[in-house]
This record gives sequence, C-alpha cells and structure tokens, in this order.
Amino acid sequence: MLSVIYVSVADPLLSFADIQLILASARRNNERDALTGALIYNGNNFMQLLEGPADRVDACLEAIREDTRHGGMVEIRRRTIDRRDFAEWSMLYEPDFEEHADGLARLAANGGLDADDERMLGNFIALGRRRPSAAGPAPLQ
Ligand SMILES: Cc1cc2nc3c(=O)[nH]c(=O)nc-3n(C[C@H](O)[C@H](O)[C@H](O)COP(=O)(O)O)c2cc1C
Repeated sequence: MLSVIYVSVADPLLSFADIQLILASARRNNERDALTGALIYNGNNFMQLLEGPADRVDACLEAIREDTRHGGMVEIRRRTIDRRDFAEWSMLYEPDFEEHADGLARLAANGGLDADDERMLGNFIALGRRRPSAAGPAPLQ
C-alpha cells in the first residue's frame, strides 16, 4: 500500500458548506475505493493524508489535483506502508489544527520538511489513533 501526504492552498472563497461537500464525496468515494486518511483545513491551507492500494491512491490524487477548490498541491511525504495510520477513517476531518497555520503555509510554499514539520506530521498522524464513535462516522464539522 501507499501513503501520501500533501499540502495545498485553498480557494480563499471556500465556505463551510464547500468543506462539507468535499468531505461527503471524499468519504463516499474512499469507502468504495478502500482508501483511508485525514484532512486538515485551517482556512488557508489543506493538508491531507491518503493511504490504500497504490494505484487507487494515485488515481485519487490525480482527481484531487484537478479540483479547482484548491491549488498548488505539494507532496511532502510518499511512502510504502504495510499498515494504515487511519484504518478506521474514510476521511477523518479535524478543524482544530490551527496552531499549525504557519507551518502549513510554509510547507505549501516549499515542500521541505524541517524538525518542526516532522513534529507537526507526527501530531497529524496521531489523529489516526482516534476511534470513530460507535454511532457511526464522525459528524461533518
Ligand atoms: C482538499 C480536497 C481533498 C479531497 N479529498 C478527496 C478524497 O479523499 N477522495 C475523493 O474521492 N475525493 C476527494 N476530493 C474531491 C475530488 O477532488 C473530486 O471532486 C471527487 O473525487 C469527484 O468525485 P465525485 O464526482 O464522486 O464527487 C478532494 C477535494 C479537495 C479539494
């Protein structure tokens, strides 16, 4: 399997409703395609981890790259994995990752990882240890 993390620059006009639409189609398609992962949006940048069968991850990234709701996608990590970090999440969404606004903007600008970025990625990936509620998938926020 493949795991890819990218950052991008969101369309400044995106609304709350737009994010809900992105999540709804991501969750629907990812469930169909055996993809899992997480998405962060801080009002300016997206960061997303997508994991699953390599061909499906790349096909999905192609579609996402064409999406006009964001631009400037920069892959910051790509690795082969045996085990998923977000096995239980068709797409976890965490709106409260805002303390990392500067880090995300800088990554989107140059894609290089420093020690702070590695720490931030560690925190991001740790979100995958959360369990979806027994009532079903996390509500759209
Ligand atoms: C930041 C961002 C993340 C996205 N993540 C996914 C995703 O994980 N899976 C997915 O299928 N589509 C994702 N999309 C949406 C795709 O770009 C595309 O709109 C969608 O796959 C089209 O499928 P649909 O016609 O079924 O809605 C994302 C879009 C954006 C802007």
